[in-house]
Amino acid sequence: MPQNQIFLQACRGERPARTPIWVMRQAGRYLPEYRAVRSKVSFETMCRTPELCAEVTLQPIDRYGFDAAILFSDILVVFDAIGVPVAFNPAPQVATPVRTAAELEALRWGRAVDHLGYVFDAVRACKQALADRVPLIGFCGAPMTTASYMIEGGGSREFEHTKAMAFCEPALFGRMLERITTLLIEYLGQQVAAGADALQIFESWGAAFAPQDYRVHVLPHLQRLLREVAPLGVPVILFVRGNASLLRQTKDLGADVIGIDWSIELDEAIATVGRERVVQGNMDPLTLLGPPELIEQTAKRIVEQGRAARAHIFNLGHGISRHTDPAMVQHLVDAVRSA
Ligand code: CP3
Repeated sequence: MPQNQIFLQACRGERPARTPIWVMRQAGRYLPEYRAVRSKVSFETMCRTPELCAEVTLQPIDRYGFDAAILFSDILVVFDAIGVPVAFNPAPQVATPVRTAAELEALRWGRAVDHLGYVFDAVRACKQALADRVPLIGFCGAPMTTASYMIEGGGSREFEHTKAMAFCEPALFGRMLERITTLLIEYLGQQVAAGADALQIFESWGAAFAPQDYRVHVLPHLQRLLREVAPLGVPVILFVRGNASLLRQTKDLGADVIGIDWSIELDEAIATVGRERVVQGNMDPLTLLGPPELIEQTAKRIVEQGRAARAHIFNLGHGISRHTDPAMVQHLVDAVRSA
């Protein structure tokens, strides 16, 4: 049992004594101690070395005392399991995109999760290093976000290959998402078996599809993922970015916590998902480039707005920028703690 329980209390819908805080991408390039580790090894090597994962996972905990740690890894390491090579430069690149039925079937789907032992070892290494100070969050990408990197061959602005597949070959798109979802269910199960105390699902590219198309082509898979990980017994956070109108579709999929991106005021998001729900978010990460007074004022407004929900976990509305001054993160933590 972690000594600091306030994050898990909030996940369960109990209102802890103060608002818990952690930030997405908290172990990353804005921290000099992360860059020091990273200067010696590639990102891929870091992800595959449990001791290094544990070291950088703990860096923001040691520096700021965040109320939860998130496993250092990447949503795209699952491609290792099915034999799709991915390079991080640092933006992810997939040299052999998967766009046809033959390409999909040729991948290594059998016992895929067995190839991700280094992630589960990293979870164990993090738990050991944390020594129950704070809970550890495991994670994966949502089925569509994960698939989009495989279909596009990397990041994308328009998602033209992903959408063309969904619209022209819906059965193929459905089969791809179904197979990925099965892998993600096993993947999250193994993370929990290794000790993860909570899970977050990242739908970073919720904006790729119009709401009606999202409902038809994407939602059933996300719904299945949430349904099948619920019995694992740990809280699940669903973070969908880029399309606040999707909150109406994603609020009832069974997630314990609804992640809110920064495209909507938190009070409006709470009105949309319902005050009986637990929310996480949602400060614009680039607020941290502003002066300390702005950071303080914005953080306090968000904490105030969060009081309308059943419980609120403070976070940014997307990953922290690498251009952030670490001192400004300390201002943020102080502002949330004193709000
Ligand atoms: O939050 C954490 O601290 C845990 C670690 C984590 C990383 N990526 C480390 C990382 C997590 C949870 C992720 C999730 C992830 N990865 C997402 C979903 C969240 C989001 O940001 O929307 C996505 C879409 C990816 C795919 C990915 N990996 C991209 C687009 C990039 C390049 C980003 C960039 O900032 O240039 C990566 C690489 C990556 N993943 C880095 C880190 C710290 C930078 C790699 C480096 O050190 O060179």
